[in-house]
Amino acid sequence: LILPVLLSGGAGTRLWPTSNVGVPKPFLALAGERPTFSATLSRIADPKLFAPPLVVARSEHRYLIEASLADAGLPASLLLEPEPMSTTAAIAAAAEWAAARAPDALILVLAADHAIRDDAGFRRTVARAAPAARDGRIVVFGIVPTEPETGYGYIRPGELLTGSEGVSRVAAFVEKPDADRAVQLIKEGCLWNSGNFLMRAATALEEIRRHAPKTGAACAAALREGKTSGDTIELSREHFIAAEPISFDHAVLEKSDRIAVATATFDWADIGTWAAVWTASGRDAAGNAIEGDVALVDTDGSLVSTDGPVVGVVGMKDAVVVAANNAVLVAPRDRAGDVKALASKLGKLE
Ligand code: GDD
Ligand code: MG
Repeated sequence: LILPVLLSGGAGTRLWPTSNVGVPKPFLALAGERPTFSATLSRIADPKLFAPPLVVARSEHRYLIEASLADAGLPASLLLEPEPMSTTAAIAAAAEWAAARAPDALILVLAADHAIRDDAGFRRTVARAAPAARDGRIVVFGIVPTEPETGYGYIRPGELLTGSEGVSRVAAFVEKPDADRAVQLIKEGCLWNSGNFLMRAATALEEIRRHAPKTGAACAAALREGKTSGDTIELSREHFIAAEPISFDHAVLEKSDRIAVATATFDWADIGTWAAVWTASGRDAAGNAIEGDVALVDTDGSLVSTDGPVVGVVGMKDAVVVAANNAVLVAPRDRAGDVKALASKLGKLE
């Protein structure tokens, strides 16, 4: 059985003010969809293929997670992080946990904040990736790009591997290129990294020890010295904060020569910005996506949403106006990615 590892640690600051540290993106119903944390749990709720999942998350979100798990009726284990130290640390702790139980078991690391509708297609892609993963590779799932998005990792596929259909070596991995580079990478036939990985627990540990040894050691100690109660382990703060706060993409995927890519045969969206929520939402004839008590005059191409106060908008084009949690955001839609920059200015965000 494959062990799913759900990573849920980002604050989702680009979707402020709806998303915040208290209730971040994976636990929100955005664009009329169910929260992605719950949807991700359903995707792996197949006892013939998957073991009960391991969730790695910030301690603050323990109760949100336990509520989602109870809703899903799934047993799960939980690793709680005293501080968010980015994905290399989260994956290192998960891989240590898994390797102590079954070093040859495959772990499927999943972002808890992606929208995928075709769960069956997803499971087929995972099955296709399994032989390469058993062979000691870190298999990522590649998505055919639709635009030069700078918030994703880009994968240059190399030669096809024998033994798994549609799985290639990775010739290069470029995490979050600038806009010009992204255009170039797409021209060269690169794929997007969907941010989900299949590998042996032991492979993950070997590659983390090679490319991020300090983080590997810190996480092993944090797990060993952690506080266990039932299926939950609180990682030891003292050791965990010695990890380097670097993403798995930068620390391992850009450096390792054991990466393979399985071309995804499922739909995929990372609804990471208000512009993406607008794209994913139903829209009226003027191209407006609205939610709540909203009045519009001469406004088009806009996302206007409120969780309480009545919102009136006049004469705007391609705007984002969101009133939520006693706060208001106003931005041009094409600057939606920059909402993240507010985080450092608004103390309550971080
Ligand atoms: N437990 C834990 N702890 N989870 C974390 C932490 C952490 O410190 N930091 C991030 N995560 C979780 C997020 O909640 C998300 O589910 C996943 O790990 C990926 O982190 P993001 O912060 O969302 O990464 P990203 O979107 O910038 O980039 C990644 O995803 C892209 C696709 O959406 C990369 O893998 C890119 O290469 C990829 O294209
Ligand atoms: Mg993301």
